[in-house]
Amino acid sequence: MEKTLVLIKPDAVERNLIGKILTVYEEAGLQITALRMLQADLDLARKHYAEHEGRPYFDGLLAEITRGPLVALILEGGNAIGTVRTLNGKTNPKEAAPGTIRARFALDTSHNSVHASDSPENAQREMDLWFPRG
Ligand code: CDP
Ligand code: MG
Repeated sequence: MEKTLVLIKPDAVERNLIGKILTVYEEAGLQITALRMLQADLDLARKHYAEHEGRPYFDGLLAEITRGPLVALILEGGNAIGTVRTLNGKTNPKEAAPGTIRARFALDTSHNSVHASDSPENAQREMDLWFPRG
């Protein structure tokens, strides 16, 4: 079964949306196989978003993801990576399809409630980062 890494970002945690978001994944038939709540430090945030270094939004992105507690989880299921990206919706919630997590819950592009891996390589890299020696 394919695995993917999801983050429920601080903007969603602080608005009490953890349960609603987890329910979307569970009702889609995906299995939660690991889960932890933590506040990311700058080092972890930089590694996670390394491919965005140099972008104009990079510093704001690091500030936002480290701002408060988040939930990291691993989801497992058939085509988990693509399925979760579809359930999450587009990066800008104004462009996200109706019914997607970002359409329902996100505030704007920089407060868009969830992260999900976009390839098998990034899924493995991100799972190793958020769930070391697990
Ligand atoms: O999260 P996703 O893979 O959909 O988008 P991305 O293009 O990989 O960008 C990563 C994250 O950077 C987004 O989820 C946004 O939180 C943030 N971002 C931003 O704040 N402003 C932008 N113009 C683009 C991305
Ligand atoms: Mg991305």
